[in-house]
Amino acid sequence: MKRLFTGLQPSGTLHIGNYFGALKPFVDVYEDYESHIMVADLHALTSLRDPQALRQNIIDVVKDYIGVGIDTEKAILFKQSDVQEHTELAWIFECLVTVPFLSQAHAYKDKVAKGIEANAGLFNYPMLMASDILLYDTDIVPVGEDQRQHIEYAREAVTKFNNAYGETFVAPQEMILKGVGIIPGTDGQKMSKSYKNTIPLFGTKDEITKAVMSIVTDSSGERPENVYAIHKLFRTESELDTLYTENAGKYKNLKDALVEDIEAMVAPMRERRDSVSDADVVTILKKWSEKAREQASKKMSVVREKIGIAL
Ligand code: ADP
Ligand code: TRP
Repeated sequence: MKRLFTGLQPSGTLHIGNYFGALKPFVDVYEDYESHIMVADLHALTSLRDPQALRQNIIDVVKDYIGVGIDTEKAILFKQSDVQEHTELAWIFECLVTVPFLSQAHAYKDKVAKGIEANAGLFNYPMLMASDILLYDTDIVPVGEDQRQHIEYAREAVTKFNNAYGETFVAPQEMILKGVGIIPGTDGQKMSKSYKNTIPLFGTKDEITKAVMSIVTDSSGERPENVYAIHKLFRTESELDTLYTENAGKYKNLKDALVEDIEAMVAPMRERRDSVSDADVVTILKKWSEKAREQASKKMSVVREKIGIAL
């Protein structure tokens, strides 16, 4: 079985754009591989300095993934900081790549351009990510388009290491998760937590209702396009044609129908998420971190031997 590896930033509340754009396509494929899913808590430190928030985000991201359908018996779901080999290998890669090479990373440049502090962790981020992937002889890395370059960086780390010390690492391939395209938010722009135009994935029915009622409707046409664009995710075009024809101009009815459709999808996921306690999350992460550590330490023994630090 091929190996799949992905990392999740523990970065707060999910919205339905995240679900259709990244989570659902991931849930659809992970069982076809031997899958590792890692909570990237050390990566989160590049931007988060609130211990309580980080702790909560780690717990939440695990619950979210269980909520959307990840079976924790079928995937190795672990926490980055529980496997110290990740930071050790990152250092070794950092000694193999150059500053000009790392300076070209789009994610780094974009963040700095937005005025985000250019800490050294942010700069070295791609080499920690390369270590995450390469420690487990990963074949496939499912990620969003924004992470494509980071997988190229991981391949560069493979080349640099293998050239210097001999064949050791496997070059991974990205699998770009293509959901149903860009999901618009309540204002018609791309749904994004930074635009405050989201419909929460695990919100209560009241929260979902509030978000749907706030969808901006353009009163010039018969069909409220912003409502329709989101509704398309939940029903076929012909179902929607009937519904929107029968309710032409009745925006409130259409929004009510959308709330019901979102709720029908979300309610079972929310129930599954709510059935997981914080203690369950700790138990799951502990169990799988041991497994990951076992695999990573085997690989690192080989690496230490090759680079000449094992005496
Ligand atoms: P946000 O824009 O809310 O900060 P993130 O950048 O954290 O979202 O996105 C996490 C993942 O969810 C990305 O891989 C991205 O592909 C997906 N995603 C986010 N927003 C959307 C959207 N509006 N439509 C489709 N996919 C999205
Ligand atoms: N950088 C990824 C993101 O922001 C998260 C991540 C960390 C990751 N390590 C990884 C993704 C390894 C894939 C593989 O989404």
